[in-house]
Amino acid sequence: MPERPYVIDEMISAKQIAARIEALAREIEKEFSDTRKLVVVGLLRGSFVFIADLVRELDLPVEVDFLEASSYGNAMESSREVRILKDLRGEIEGRDVLVVEDIVDTGYTLTHVLGLLKSRNPKRLKTIALLDKPTRRETDVKADWIGFEIPDEFVVGYGIDFAQRNRNLPHIGKVRFVDEDKA
Ligand code: IMP
Repeated sequence: MPERPYVIDEMISAKQIAARIEALAREIEKEFSDTRKLVVVGLLRGSFVFIADLVRELDLPVEVDFLEASSYGNAMESSREVRILKDLRGEIEGRDVLVVEDIVDTGYTLTHVLGLLKSRNPKRLKTIALLDKPTRRETDVKADWIGFEIPDEFVVGYGIDFAQRNRNLPHIGKVRFVDEDKA
């Protein structure tokens, strides 16, 4: 496929993200104030920057684990078929668990992952997503905490990629194809 040229327009600044994470961390601390240890589960790969900032903001005893589910591959459309590519290292039975997702789009990924984790009988299972695109939802799922609601735009940065690129942008930007400008 020939590469279409695109530019990235800033949508959410690094400062806005940091401020929102601070506020969310206070809410999560309240919810899990009695925890012995919170297992924070990052969904790879898109949540790696978010989880790094979030756990450093949390004043709670935490353990970090990762799970990788297949999602977009290299395309811009969800496959709707979710497979687990990498499972957790640790057990979560009887534990407090917080699942950290980058974006809830159609909702298939989160629905599948929550189903799997629930079947392992955690004590409490909560979810946080940095971004939510509610107009794209095809399953009945909602994260307990959301950083920002965004419109139906393809976004990159802060860990989130377009065909493996742009994960290292410090802010969230929206992809705009420059050939669309001429149409
Ligand atoms: P869902 O299963 O459709 O909810 O898809 C969730 C996953 O799709 C996210 O964890 C992202 O990895 C990916 N995704 C959804 N929207 C975007 C986007 O705008 N940019 C990059 N990846 C996205």
